Amino acid sequence: MLEIKKLSKTYKEAHGKITVLKDINLKIDAGKFIVLLGPSGSGKSTLLNLIAMLDKPDCGEVLLDGKNILRISEDKKAELRLNSFGFVFQFDSLLPEFTVLENIEFPAIMKGEQNNKVGVELLENFGLAKFSSKMPQTLSGGEKQRVAIMRALRNNPKIILADEPTGNLDADKKTKIFKDFASLAKKGTSVLMVTHDTHACDFADEVYQLTDTHHIKKIK
Ligand SMILES: Nc1ncnc2c1ncn2[C@@H]1O[C@H](COP(=O)(O)OP(=O)(O)OP(=O)(O)O)[C@@H](O)[C@H]1O
Ligand SMILES: [Mg+2]
Repeated sequence: MLEIKKLSKTYKEAHGKITVLKDINLKIDAGKFIVLLGPSGSGKSTLLNLIAMLDKPDCGEVLLDGKNILRISEDKKAELRLNSFGFVFQFDSLLPEFTVLENIEFPAIMKGEQNNKVGVELLENFGLAKFSSKMPQTLSGGEKQRVAIMRALRNNPKIILADEPTGNLDADKKTKIFKDFASLAKKGTSVLMVTHDTHACDFADEVYQLTDTHHIKKIK
């Protein structure tokens, strides 16, 4: 479904170039929960940004259903970001002025297609229906991240890109989110999750590691 081929990325620095990703190949099939590990600075966020079309590689391809999404118009990229990808970030990214339900509905509001029914259904599926009209700042860290996952799911994406979504959570809350992702994958939504927590590997279908030399290695 998503295929990364021979992707390389360097950044220009004052004294030369630094290589961040070298010849990365990665295939993400439908319905897979994939974990990406790697030391700080190894290029994990850079790789997610490239997949999300927020940055350009030096060379290589990112194919979504066979189509190179690095070579499409900005309009089409924005459309894919809204419909085919869901994003979950490390830190609290909910809008504080809006209720939980409104936050979940936000990607649909962006399309002019708000329909609280889908948001309510997501809340029910996650067992958080009673939080619907709460404000984000009254939720725990783990609850907020689960709302962020529901928001990422709102437009029924093909793939969720999550960059250290459990970074500031305790062990129990982390496990809950790893389980959420594993069960989403079983229902057909692929998940690519960056983390430093090797416990996530127990829940993943596949595990990759970015090395100090900026190559990618499959470890599960
Ligand atoms: N815009 C940029 N310009 C120059 N260098 C950059 C830029 N963005 C990232 N880098 C460098 O690229 C390398 C990889 O960064 P990246 O954020 O992808 O690492 P990471 O694996 O996500 O690390 P962490 O686990 O700390 O989040 C780092 O050395 C970083 O300093
Ligand atoms: Mg990072």
